[in-house]
Amino acid sequence: MALLSVNNLSISFGGLKAVSDLNLSLEQGDLAGLIGPNGAGKTTAFNMLTGVYLPTSGDILLDGKSLVGLKPYQINHRGVARTFQNIRLFSDLTVIDNLKIAYHSHAKYGLLGAIARLPGFYSGEKEMHDKSMELLKIFKLDNKAEGLAKNLPYGEQSVLKLPGPWPLSPGSAIR
Ligand SMILES: Nc1ncnc2c1ncn2[C@@H]1O[C@H](COP(=O)(O)OP(=O)(O)OP(=O)(O)O)[C@@H](O)[C@H]1O
Ligand SMILES: [Mg+2]
Repeated sequence: MALLSVNNLSISFGGLKAVSDLNLSLEQGDLAGLIGPNGAGKTTAFNMLTGVYLPTSGDILLDGKSLVGLKPYQINHRGVARTFQNIRLFSDLTVIDNLKIAYHSHAKYGLLGAIARLPGFYSGEKEMHDKSMELLKIFKLDNKAEGLAKNLPYGEQSVLKLPGPWPLSPGSAIR
């Protein structure tokens, strides 16, 4: 079974059919590109995959379970993340803190645990730190982890904006 399966996905805005019967299938580890001319519906397709837009018809299955109707944060919790064309970093935070923020929705402690500094807070923070360092190493940014994001050259800022949970959490396939 495909990890991600998109079946006859369509959306209309009034009379305009922006995406018509999109079908695609991705296996674990696949790297795919979606290409097309301006206005073809690429961004609209990603907006449906991430729950920003509700499709008019069709289905999106991740590991066999439908994502249609879920909120973007619920879809993110299932392992689907996206990035945007423009760079929006927390420029006055460090490189590693930018990554840890991207991980926060996967943190294993709650607000109370953080305030009360329960044991789970420290182990959760360490896990996020270690995973962030692992990612920074992959992208050769580990030696700049403690520097401010705004001091990175533009190309490296662009690398840093990739969403944190990818590619370490199971099920992440889309960007
Ligand atoms: N919220 C919306 N309301 C009405 N029309 C929309 C909306 N979002 C997108 N569209 C229309 O859907 C069509 C597809 O737009 P979309 O932005 O998905 O194209 P794209 O392939 O991402 O183009 P580009 O290469 O320029 O980024 C366009 O005609 C666009 O005007
Ligand atoms: Mg677009």
